[in-house]
Amino acid sequence: MQISPGPRTSAWADLLSHAARLSAVPTRELFARDPGRFERFTREAVGLQMDFSRQRIDEMVLGKLTELADAVKLRERIDAMFRGEKINRTEDRAVLHVALRQPPGAQIGGADIENQVMTERERMLSFAESVRHGRIAGSTGKAFKLVVNIGIGGSDLGPAMAVQALQRYTESAPHCEFVSNIDGNHLYDVLATADPATTLFIVASKTFVTLETLTNARTARAWLKGKLGEAAVPAHFAAVSVNHEAMNEFKVHPDYRFQMWDWVGGRYSLWSSIGVSLAIAIGRENFNRFLAGGHAMDEHFRTAPWQTNLPALAGLVGVWNISFLNLPTHAVLPYDDRLKRFPAYLQQLEMESNGKSTTLDGRPVEWPTAPIVWGEPGDNAQHSFFQLLHQGTQRAALDFILPAKSSCGDQNHQDLAIANCLAQAEAFMEGQSAEVVRAALERQKMAPERIAELTAHKVHEGSRPSTVWLFAKLDPAMLGKLIALYEHKVLTQGVVWGINSFDQWGVELGKKLAEQLAPAVKDPAAAHSVPAGVLKLLQRIDALRSAD
Ligand code: F6P
Repeated sequence: MQISPGPRTSAWADLLSHAARLSAVPTRELFARDPGRFERFTREAVGLQMDFSRQRIDEMVLGKLTELADAVKLRERIDAMFRGEKINRTEDRAVLHVALRQPPGAQIGGADIENQVMTERERMLSFAESVRHGRIAGSTGKAFKLVVNIGIGGSDLGPAMAVQALQRYTESAPHCEFVSNIDGNHLYDVLATADPATTLFIVASKTFVTLETLTNARTARAWLKGKLGEAAVPAHFAAVSVNHEAMNEFKVHPDYRFQMWDWVGGRYSLWSSIGVSLAIAIGRENFNRFLAGGHAMDEHFRTAPWQTNLPALAGLVGVWNISFLNLPTHAVLPYDDRLKRFPAYLQQLEMESNGKSTTLDGRPVEWPTAPIVWGEPGDNAQHSFFQLLHQGTQRAALDFILPAKSSCGDQNHQDLAIANCLAQAEAFMEGQSAEVVRAALERQKMAPERIAELTAHKVHEGSRPSTVWLFAKLDPAMLGKLIALYEHKVLTQGVVWGINSFDQWGVELGKKLAEQLAPAVKDPAAAHSVPAGVLKLLQRIDALRSAD
């Protein structure tokens, strides 16, 4: 398929002139001009409402953005992904996370893929259920009370985020911990209070060669062996990987290993057996609801026209902000503490996927790609970095994520969170002019000199663009929908920018260097071919660690 990146299309050139036109118009003016603006820029599908009326956008821009989607053949690329074509060209792989959440009979990726998915899903879910209900127990016959997922990146962020998000569905399940970093602190903290007889480790690693994961897994294995003996180890270790040889070497029991496939990217793998800890935590029914939520969003993305297609609109509005309004960062602000790790999850999803500077045909891109994604639960954010967003010199586009119903059962609290969220969205858009500031200070009978002094400090320019994502409540299906929404947003943007969203060569370089350096860190004196600057640091580190 002949592909032309968005910036080489005529729609792009038109959008540039629209950007020049709209940059001069405050968003509050767009509201003032059009009483129907909310309706015009709000969409709803699969139980999720997207209110993007506070974006600096009008119907002409929206029309051009959808033209852009056609010009880059977004529809063809979506269909190619769903058919299982090898759209990840640099790794020569299909991209079929959508096949992982399909219901029986959907044949996404073909009959063979569907078959493999269903078989492995059933194996994983029945294992998870058995662990959850104590039918699969540890070596001493005691039910598992603690599940420790050892993984990193996509083998950690997804399950860790989802278990936290769905905490209220985990009652009577074993407690889950997620250990990722190699420094050992978290692992040792977990081991310090773990009862080996009731602890199950899950080594989650697509490749099973990841240094962090294998180091933590080996330490956990040695700990368990030290406590219960070698013979007990297989009853306490499950694994998820494509690498059977490595699982053999680690002596993972065949019934306790779960398969992945090379057509699942690590950051898209929560839907596979990488989600086994989530399945243990929330149970089979809820895991199936989670998958069904993802699939509902897939069907919407695959079939809805651009004007009502939530992931496509999210992607296109994002392109508008990044490439035309020059907003290089994107803050994700959930107004539900359970979604605390969602911004971190999205950081990998968006930045590992679209943090690229080479087009699909191997040329350097001449346009910005993925934004810096960051965020915090909104209330915390209000009391830390919102000042900069309101009045600082750096700008960001914002996503507010807002459930209407409380996740903890106290609606009173959630109502105040809702008030905070909507107040912020409005304040970011509306701003506060010098006239309004002056009038308010005059009403307080402030001295004119003091008013003159203060006014400039209290002015908020406004026009900070945001989207409010509103839904009834955070449940397994809605979490599935939210994740799939952002996954497809990433695909949309990758297609527009003409890049491969599914490889991650940038991560490989550092990994390789770390492996080469590891022996030199142990013994700097014996280090060969270590760069001079690094050697100096290693020598200093050696001195520091041998001092008292
Ligand atoms: O950080 C790079 C990466 O390759 C991610 O894409 C992946 O999710 C992570 O490492 C972990 O890889 P694995 O599951 O193979 O251990």
